[in-house]
Amino acid sequence: MSSPTPSSPSPLRRKLITGVAVLAIAGIAVAGYMFSPINRQLAETPMPALGQHLDDEIARGAYVARAADCAPCHTAPDGIPYAGGLVINTPFGKMASPNITPDPETGIGGWSRDAFARAVREGVTAHPGNLYPTMTFTSYTKMSDADIDALYAYMMAMPPVTQEAPDLELDFPFNQRLLLSGWRKLFFDNSEFEADPALSDEVNRGAYLVQGPAHCSECHTPRNAFGAQKASMMLAGAQIDGFWAPNLTPDAETGLGKWSEDDLYTYLSGKDGVHGGPFGPMYDVVAEGTSHLTESDLRAMAAYLHQLEPIRHATGAALDHADASASIERGRVAYRVNCSACHRLNGEGVPNFAPAIAGHHAVGASADNVIAPVLTGLSDKDGRIAMPAFLLDDTSIADIANYVRNAMNDTESATATPEQVAAVRETLH
Ligand code: HEC
Ligand code: HEC
Ligand code: HEC
Repeated sequence: MSSPTPSSPSPLRRKLITGVAVLAIAGIAVAGYMFSPINRQLAETPMPALGQHLDDEIARGAYVARAADCAPCHTAPDGIPYAGGLVINTPFGKMASPNITPDPETGIGGWSRDAFARAVREGVTAHPGNLYPTMTFTSYTKMSDADIDALYAYMMAMPPVTQEAPDLELDFPFNQRLLLSGWRKLFFDNSEFEADPALSDEVNRGAYLVQGPAHCSECHTPRNAFGAQKASMMLAGAQIDGFWAPNLTPDAETGLGKWSEDDLYTYLSGKDGVHGGPFGPMYDVVAEGTSHLTESDLRAMAAYLHQLEPIRHATGAALDHADASASIERGRVAYRVNCSACHRLNGEGVPNFAPAIAGHHAVGASADNVIAPVLTGLSDKDGRIAMPAFLLDDTSIADIANYVRNAMNDTESATATPEQVAAVRETLH
């Protein structure tokens, strides 16, 4: 962590965080908002800088970049870290992440600290102008000046790489950046992070990390029809790339009510936890991001999540009894044929080969978390084998999801339907 040379992130599966956020901007744009940069109040940062334990600015910046997961999005599979080119699928077409190494021609070499801060915290650049919220400035807007300074020092100290981003265009009308101005007016809240004096320093630290650099809510908070996060459902669970990013509030039934602060810490640190490990989009968050953070920062995030107001958020209506029993019964057979060789008949998995999917909290949280892995497969990581994608019909996949959740994960009713599988298939393209 003390060297400015970035490590190479693993090839990524993450495609879309807030591509959906552009949804319906065309509709809002008729209001004719003109581009108007938001004036950010430059108040004193209420939080101490991240990575305070590190002795120089560049190392602190590398730490901030880890917390903020900048590399995974700005690196193509097997590409040079931060040189961009990751192709991100959005419902409106493909976009490629730009090169953010300090190359003067193709990267951000000529950028001042303020231009950099404006891009990261406000989502505005000289060219091309308004950034799509696929770049998670909607959370980074809470980052402190000190963290931005360190991040800038780190970025500028990195070896420049000359590499143009692939020239991809979103479909019309979503390729009209001017339309983003309307969206920003209505939905971009660029208020700074404010520590709550009623809470401990640790909880405030966790709040800063979760809401700001670590941008947990970009995936874990449901969005309205315009792709903006619903404030009343903060961290209460949402679908992302076909997977279900579960409810992180401590609701006893639909959230993390059974997780201790220690469980959360263990999970984020990347060690084996008692509630199942991360997979899909969350795998990169842990492998590239949180597992590199200090114990005190991870414990702070756990403490913050633990004291949130519980929000109930059910996932899917229960099928009627006869339909549920029939589906679970078919699922038992299909599971034995397709899945048991790796995950064993009872779902306990095989150590160092295939993970347990029984007693796996995120699998219990929503049928999406069986459906999406089965449809897409999961890439090999850390020497583990890959999970193949399955060419099964929608009914069989729904049956397997119902069986796995009912028989192995304490989910009393069955909720998955062929329509739900078709919908996930659609999101995954
Ligand atoms: C979820 C993916 C994602 C993450 C995480 C992310 N970015 Fe981005 N970033 C993008 C995309 C996509 C764009 C291009 C958006 C556009 O063209 O509208 C972008 C644009 C930028 C730009 C503007 C570059 C230019 O040439 O216009 C900068 C600077 C930048 N990101 C820096 C960062 C930094 C620093 C971090 C970490 C704090 C970060 N990004 C994290 C996806 C991401
Ligand atoms: C790129 C999207 C994304 C981001 C960003 C993200 N998560 Fe997740 N998270 C997911 C998905 C999808 C799952 C479900 C799959 C799994 O369990 O790995 C998940 C699962 C989890 C779980 C397990 C929950 C359960 O019920 O088993 C925890 C805890 C968690 N995330 C915490 C966090 C925290 C804390 C952050 C911020 C540091 C964060 N996540 C950021 C997508 C994301
Ligand atoms: C060839 C072995 C293999 C088969 C067959 C297989 N899986 Fe997997 N599965 C894996 C591996 C390996 C992982 C972990 C992959 C990763 O996260 O990189 C995994 C992960 C999962 C996960 C996410 C849990 C986690 O912690 O990673 C779910 C859910 C899952 N499998 C369900 C199924 C279902 C349902 C079937 C049958 C349709 C199935 N698997 C068939 C090997 C297999």
